[in-house]
Amino acid sequence: MTGVTIEKLDADPKTVRAAVADLAGILADCVLGGASVGFMAGFGIAEAALYFRKVFDDVAGGKTVLLAARQGNKIVGTVQLGLDTMPNQPHRAEVKKLLVHRSARNAGVGERLMRDIERFARHHDRSLLVLDTVTDSPGYRLYERLGWHRVGVIPDYALLPDGSFCDTTVFYKRIAP
Ligand SMILES: CC(C)(COP(=O)(O)OP(=O)(O)OC[C@H]1O[C@@H](n2cnc3c(N)ncnc32)[C@H](O)[C@@H]1OP(=O)(O)O)[C@@H](O)C(=O)NCCC(=O)NCCS
Repeated sequence: MTGVTIEKLDADPKTVRAAVADLAGILADCVLGGASVGFMAGFGIAEAALYFRKVFDDVAGGKTVLLAARQGNKIVGTVQLGLDTMPNQPHRAEVKKLLVHRSARNAGVGERLMRDIERFARHHDRSLLVLDTVTDSPGYRLYERLGWHRVGVIPDYALLPDGSFCDTTVFYKRIAP
């Protein structure tokens, strides 16, 4: 996708104010589009904004890296890296909430966010990444393409927004320091 830049968001109140509406819009759009990303049908912008405000608290606390894909003055995609591991897992991090607005999909934004979040994981000395996603979903195909290893499938792990069960595949990836 032309004209898309990836940036790391800080928790400065000015950044939060400027980014929350776009990020909430992306999350609400993904749920509306049927993605299993933690929330159920009927989930709206206000709840999504609340969710991202909590994410910014974790950014402020150094527990999360939050990336945004920006096109012009609009954020069209996002991903998080969870760094808040137990003391015996200092080398591990979790990739979470890779979300691209439906209007910006199938143009490489998701792939770019994933490549950049790996770069930030290296920067934080994390050499083992984990994530889970709906089996056979667009995210699943993306992770396979980017060299993530399938650990296995957990049947009926989560609900889709419409209340039906979906299988989840757990992935890991080792990255060179
Ligand atoms: C998963 C998700 C983030 C992928 O985002 P995306 O920006 O569409 O990802 P990409 O564009 O990198 O890749 C998607 C597809 O577009 C294709 N593509 C990439 N660039 C392209 C281009 N320039 N022209 C045509 N197709 C292209 C890719 O090959 C890929 O095809 P595939 O699905 O058949 O494998 C997005 O579908 C999404 O937000 N889904 C809902 C939330 C979700 O499920 N997130 C994962 C939670 S773990």
